[in-house]
Amino acid sequence: MNPAPRDQADAGQPVLEARNIVKRYGHVTAIDGADFDLRAGEVLAVVGDNGAGKSSLIKALSGAIVPDSGQLLMEGVPVHFRSPLDARRNGIEPVYQDLAVAPALDIASNLYLGREIRRTSLWGRLFRRLDQPRMRAQSAQHMSDLKIGIRSMTQPVETLSGGQRQAVAVARAAAFGTRVVILDEPTAALGVRESGMVLDMIREIRDRGIPVVLISHNMPHVFEIADRIHIHRLGRRLTVVRPQGRAMSEVVALMTGAISPEQTAEHTGAE
Ligand SMILES: Nc1ncnc2c1ncn2[C@@H]1O[C@H](COP(=O)(O)OP(=O)(O)O)[C@@H](O)[C@H]1O
Ligand SMILES: [Mg+2]
Repeated sequence: MNPAPRDQADAGQPVLEARNIVKRYGHVTAIDGADFDLRAGEVLAVVGDNGAGKSSLIKALSGAIVPDSGQLLMEGVPVHFRSPLDARRNGIEPVYQDLAVAPALDIASNLYLGREIRRTSLWGRLFRRLDQPRMRAQSAQHMSDLKIGIRSMTQPVETLSGGQRQAVAVARAAAFGTRVVILDEPTAALGVRESGMVLDMIREIRDRGIPVVLISHNMPHVFEIADRIHIHRLGRRLTVVRPQGRAMSEVVALMTGAISPEQTAEHTGAE
């Protein structure tokens, strides 16, 4: 079921890296000295119990929160994201758990929200007119690249099913995430067929050479699609395992603290 580990997923410098990051909210330490590595060409699943700090970690990786301490690096170079825009400028596109789509706007407007294409004619530049035809045409292209069967780009997002809305959010990340795409629980609210569509989109993104971080509770999905599994516990990375030759129950036992990494059958340190 799992593809063989691909060579590029093993090689070289991590694309995105966190070293010993900390984030406190009053007395709650959401990120407690967490490490993170995303390698080129991989789907990295991030799993952990509720409240383990997965969403906080990916918010730190995408500029939505600024860590109190620790270091982020891209291709080995330290970076400081003060805002989501900083991360975006570095090619990092997240889809947060609390899905940020604008329901009343159509698909093309959602895809280009915050980075609208403006007309280039003198008149257009003068009045900052939007280039709707171009945004619609490009949206349709992005949707068809990801094999999403939505044809009308002028359809308001509120008329779409949950799975289609999720698809629009993932398509936006895929369209603009030039270096990293991060998806926080993208299949949590979806049925079997719709989840399958999102997993297919993740494969498409990876096959284009963009590594994907997938936060998910769904172990069958994780085992189906992940090249490596980052197990997060109590605000930090516990260990990283490969799905091959592992039982899902072992990953769950690690996640919940029922066993420690040293107790696993194939303990080889961080993989
Ligand atoms: N904005 C916030 N203010 C206060 N506490 C927060 C905030 N965001 C997260 N937390 C707390 O940090 C911890 C980790 O949360 P979160 O990152 O959402 O975990 P997960 O995504 O793994 O469920 C939890 O105890 C949560 O209540
Ligand atoms: Mg979360």
